[in-house]
Amino acid sequence: IRSVVLGCGSYLPERVLTNAELATRIDTSDDWIVQRTGISERHIAADDEFTSHLAIKAAQAALAHAQVDAQSIDLIVVATSTPDNTFPATAVAVQHGLGINHGVAFDLQAVCSGFVFALATADNFLRAGTHKRALVIGAETFSRILDWNDRGTCVLFGDGAGAVVLEAQQQSGTTSDRGVLTTHLRSDGRHKAKLFVDGGPGSTRTVGYLRMEGREVFKHAVGMITDVIVDAFNATGFTAEDITWFIPHQANKRIIDASAHKLHIAPQKVVLTVDKHGNTSAASIPLALSVAVKDGRVKKGDLVLFEAMGGGFTWGSALVRW
Ligand code: ACO
Repeated sequence: IRSVVLGCGSYLPERVLTNAELATRIDTSDDWIVQRTGISERHIAADDEFTSHLAIKAAQAALAHAQVDAQSIDLIVVATSTPDNTFPATAVAVQHGLGINHGVAFDLQAVCSGFVFALATADNFLRAGTHKRALVIGAETFSRILDWNDRGTCVLFGDGAGAVVLEAQQQSGTTSDRGVLTTHLRSDGRHKAKLFVDGGPGSTRTVGYLRMEGREVFKHAVGMITDVIVDAFNATGFTAEDITWFIPHQANKRIIDASAHKLHIAPQKVVLTVDKHGNTSAASIPLALSVAVKDGRVKKGDLVLFEAMGGGFTWGSALVRW
């Protein structure tokens, strides 16, 4: 059994916040942000727009693209670090919003690696044969946990959501199959204080703000990313040459460029949306994927490589035949 992607979709809040507008509020500039990160603008959720609202819209777009009915979904995994509430899971709000009251819905928290972790989790459920059709969603409203006075972090992130529909299908079991071919996940809590939110029930009992040692994150990112991609290559026998599209987590153009360069992945194979979306954490990969599917780049049979690294640290890769 393979988990075949039937469709994908995304949603971005209407409001666009440009670097120029940020520069009117804090001591920064369009030049600095573009040069260090590749980011030009990001979308920001409205006051009454929560992560579940973004997730529901992305899920509806994915269901429409897949041409399947919401009632056929029996598994919903929402990757988010910005849930509507501490509990219940944002996934049950999504389930309810889609009018589904059967099956199972739960959240998964691996910060920026969330979508790859959720994809791997859903893939394991489907391959185990316990579930048939899954919605895997990455949805975030990081604007709610940013310290808007900290120029070192607030310029980096944006809000959004993306989703894919996966279906368990009988396949040959070779790497020419469609669907998720291999996933590799890692974490190492020694790094947990380098990127964290300084709130929560175990600390200030408030929601808190994102704190980051940017240089430390940067230092580890490329090595970790390339390690899990090499794992994916070793597991399948594929090389950088065989990859049709590289769709990395969109944190920073410099990290993406350095990773692709180290892996010998040609620049024209890299899907980049960080300029328009900023870092949307768990939402960034399905958002980028949706852009590349919609504009006709990603086509049936293409070999698509996903990769992410984030707080924890967590990191992972997934190789999917579209
Ligand atoms: N505008 C202008 N100046 C700034 C800004 C800003 N927005 N932010 C920081 N600076 C200043 C600093 O105050 C510092 O000034 P100083 O030299 O007078 O003290 C100077 O710029 C250099 O600061 P550094 O933090 O050393 O800058 P660096 O080159 O490391 O760039 C950045 C910072 C962009 C955050 C970089 O470290 C980075 O991209 N790190 C990776 C972090 C990341 O992408 N995290 C996302 C989450 S994890 C993930 O998704 C992989």
